[in-house]
Amino acid sequence: MNLSHFHSLSSSSTIFIFLSIFTLLHHKTNGATCHPDDEAGLLGFKSGIKSDPSGLLKSWIPGTDCCKNWTGVECHFDQNRVMNIYLTGQTTTKPETTLSGTISPTISKIKLLTGLYLLDLKHISGNFPTSLFNLPNLTYIYIQNNNLSGRIPENIGNLAQLDVLSLTGNRLTGPIPSSISQLTQLTQLKLGNNLLTGTVPESLKNLVNLTFLSLQGNQLQGTIPNFFSSFTNLRTLELSRNKFSGNIPISISTLAPKLMYLELGHNSLSGKIPDFLGKFRALDTLDLSWNKFTGTVPGSFKNLTKIFNLDLSNNLLVDPFPEMNVKGIESLDLSNNRFNLGKIPKWVASSPIIYSLRLANCGIKMKIEDFKPSETYFYDFIDVSGNEISGSAIGLLNRTEYLVGFWGAGNKLRFDLEGLRLGQRFKYLDLSRNSVFGKVPKSVVGLQKLNVSYNHLCGQLPQSKFPASSFVGNDCLCGSPLPPCKKSGV
Ligand SMILES: *[C@@H]1O[C@H](CO)[C@@H](O)[C@H](O)[C@H]1NC(C)=O
Ligand SMILES: *[C@@H]1O[C@H](CO)[C@@H](O)[C@H](O)[C@H]1NC(C)=O
Ligand SMILES: *[C@@H]1O[C@H](CO)[C@@H](O)[C@H](O)[C@H]1NC(C)=O
Ligand SMILES: *[C@@H]1O[C@H](CO)[C@@H](O)[C@H](O)[C@H]1NC(C)=O
Ligand SMILES: *[C@@H]1O[C@H](CO)[C@@H](O)[C@H](O)[C@H]1NC(C)=O
Ligand SMILES: *[C@@H]1O[C@H](CO)[C@@H](O)[C@H](O)[C@H]1NC(C)=O
Ligand SMILES: *[C@@H]1O[C@H](CO)[C@@H](O)[C@H](O)[C@H]1NC(C)=O
Repeated sequence: MNLSHFHSLSSSSTIFIFLSIFTLLHHKTNGATCHPDDEAGLLGFKSGIKSDPSGLLKSWIPGTDCCKNWTGVECHFDQNRVMNIYLTGQTTTKPETTLSGTISPTISKIKLLTGLYLLDLKHISGNFPTSLFNLPNLTYIYIQNNNLSGRIPENIGNLAQLDVLSLTGNRLTGPIPSSISQLTQLTQLKLGNNLLTGTVPESLKNLVNLTFLSLQGNQLQGTIPNFFSSFTNLRTLELSRNKFSGNIPISISTLAPKLMYLELGHNSLSGKIPDFLGKFRALDTLDLSWNKFTGTVPGSFKNLTKIFNLDLSNNLLVDPFPEMNVKGIESLDLSNNRFNLGKIPKWVASSPIIYSLRLANCGIKMKIEDFKPSETYFYDFIDVSGNEISGSAIGLLNRTEYLVGFWGAGNKLRFDLEGLRLGQRFKYLDLSRNSVFGKVPKSVVGLQKLNVSYNHLCGQLPQSKFPASSFVGNDCLCGSPLPPCKKSGV
């Protein structure tokens, strides 16, 4: 036996001994019964739940060991105390995995509770549970996608030990209390998709350890505070879908080294898109859509080589658009600005992994045959509505084999619709207001949405579920939902 063999043998027996000790400890922990306070706290929580259609809590049976066999209950390893409550609904795949009711105040008996995770249970209602203020070790609060209402308590700052506060997806109203600034250990603050009003408190700047700040989908107003120089660790900033106005504050530039998600869409922000955004080398997603940004897109955007999602749609932006260098862009939306791009830019055609390309009303005047994407495998959505694109879409739609939707309304497309071959996944086709001719082929009846109105189509329609407005304004289309064909006719 050589030395190395001996060595490995000896270390594996060491591991064996460790394993045995571990098993013993584990056994001891799990063999003991639930701490009576924890059992009372958990059963109190259960009694606050009025409806549990999928039986999430059916294993919570008095007298059995809550550490051992209660779904969603986790205990501290070396003590017989409950550490986490982790209950999650899978409402997309199993719609019955919900809980209705309120969070019972007896939860405060679970003295060493560290994490409360009530995720996607949909119907947990009532106010923010103030009983949580009596849990000194509570570090993680996730009450996401439920139905909490009322205000966030004024004294929320008393939960000073919190690392994460996530109340995303409830119906909370009123302002963000300024005492929130006392939660200085917070790394994540997520209050998105509620009904919060007022302005963002300046005092939020004290939360220097934040990596994730999400307030999107509320009714917050005023300017975005110019306080970002204190947030040197921020990776995600989500402020979309509020009523923010004013400019993008200059201090956001200090986030350049690390910020990955900057989402400011659907507000009333104005002014120019700042030059410094081109320095955000880590940026994955930039959403400035549906605001009132004016001027040009800064040339510095050439340097956003790693951006995956860029949405500048629905602003007042003008030419020239910088020649980007975006090897990995996945989704691009420049629609509904004041661009006159002329052509679909080369850097778009050469991007290999675009799945969503939206260039509606971008002043594009070209033959669609001249758009030759280098790779079409990933394309799911193409929207080039409202341009002056001519030619036949047959070749492009033939190449984009996995395409799900093509929106080409209001162009100068001219081809025989019967020549169109639609891929297996194709669902949405809008070719209205073009010069498409021929018959409407049977292959369109399986689509979810179709619009071929205002073209030069003719002949009997195949039987479909589409309304008349999908077909009106053609030369001689007939049959349901349009008036019947003439007997002697086509
Ligand atoms: C856990 O509880 C379930 C019923 O909820 C039971 O079928 C199962 O045997 C229990 N497991 C243990 C290890 O006690
Ligand atoms: C939330 O609560 C309100 C009022 O109590 C109720 O009308 C609504 O249906 C609830 N929504 C959900 C998803 O439970
Ligand atoms: C609970 O928090 C206290 C201080 O607040 C700390 O001393 C103790 O170690 C914590 N207990 C556990 C199990 O985390
Ligand atoms: C921020 O986090 C660091 C460690 O990650 C910690 O040392 C520091 O105390 C935290 N800052 C505040 C204000 O809590
Ligand atoms: C891109 O980044 C380089 C290096 O940081 C810099 O020198 C250059 O000016 C930037 N380009 C633009 C257009 O801002
Ligand atoms: C469409 O694709 C099929 C098969 O891939 C090919 O035979 C046909 O020529 C193509 N048609 C056009 C117009 O590109
Ligand atoms: C089809 O397009 C026309 C004109 O663009 C529009 O008026 C009509 O509502 C659309 N119909 C459907 C079903 O989308």
